[in-house]
Amino acid sequence: MIPLLSEFKILQPQSFTSHWIAPSNIAFVKYWGKRENQIPANSSLSMTLKECLTKTKTQFTPSKELRVELLLSGERNDAFSTKMFNYVEKLASYYPVLNQVDIRVETENTFPHGAGIASSASGMAAFALTLTDYLYHLSSRERTKDFFQHASYLARLGSGSACRSLYGGFTGWGTHISNDYAVPIDVHDLFQTLNDSILVISSEEKKVSSSAGHSQMKGHYFAERRFDQANDHFARCISALKTGDIEAVGTILESEALALHAMMLTSPKPFTLFHPNTIKGMNIVWQFRQDTKIPVYFTLDAGPNLHLIYPDAHKKNVLTFINSELNHLCEMVIHDRVGDGPTPC
Ligand code: PMV
Repeated sequence: MIPLLSEFKILQPQSFTSHWIAPSNIAFVKYWGKRENQIPANSSLSMTLKECLTKTKTQFTPSKELRVELLLSGERNDAFSTKMFNYVEKLASYYPVLNQVDIRVETENTFPHGAGIASSASGMAAFALTLTDYLYHLSSRERTKDFFQHASYLARLGSGSACRSLYGGFTGWGTHISNDYAVPIDVHDLFQTLNDSILVISSEEKKVSSSAGHSQMKGHYFAERRFDQANDHFARCISALKTGDIEAVGTILESEALALHAMMLTSPKPFTLFHPNTIKGMNIVWQFRQDTKIPVYFTLDAGPNLHLIYPDAHKKNVLTFINSELNHLCEMVIHDRVGDGPTPC
């Protein structure tokens, strides 16, 4: 259940404004398949990004009933306003004060739409932080460590992977830790230098949404074996992250990306989000790694775009490689790296 529930049950609405910036994340071990209320079917683990961010300002005003208006990059967005309304309405059954508030959300991303960077993760994390800020303000509670845990809990109810965007560095979520919220994971110094160069192979709208993809894991012939694999990868990835074993982490990273897309191909209603250039790119990365022994590995989100993960020590060589061998496959390349987590502003 929602932590700290009882003290938030009896709050009275007040006017309040909260600003937060939250990052997106890229999963090393993938969350794919869920139960009710975004309870994940397996543990997952991600690296928080530094440059791919959502900035959100939320104004709360006392009102007779719940109202939500969302502006994305300055323009009212009806679809997101309705999505946010439904989300807050669900939370209002736990926090009745949310039934008496007019919520105006102004939000913008630092990265382009369709670039294969999870804006739902950074967007829900930023909004959940402003909501948590409001609840803490109303109850005169200080922002201590449980603030982020609470925000992670609320973010999860909006978009599962968003709960991992509440901390910098590396974050885990699922049965190994908690299904309710994510927690930060300590890693070897080497992994504090990781880069993520995102090869935007296609920015076209996805044919199948993440929600539709998750639901395909129900009744999937390989579901149970896939959940076992992810849980096994999670345990092994955590230990390799702690010891600094980049080869082990990279091997799991690629296996996870391919398993995610294999699940799509073998779904009850099969589909693929691969673009021909995704497969070309993967082969080029494998060949480069074999030829140079440089530890650069790929991963994929639910989309065609390749994320190349590599440590700072090899940045110069990898950037030259991207420019000479991969640029022609992409619409653009976005360079990001491991980040420090959300910040108030
Ligand atoms: O949080 P959702 O419902 O958008 O699902 C995210 C699923 C993946 O991005 C494919 C994997 C992950 O763990 O982030």
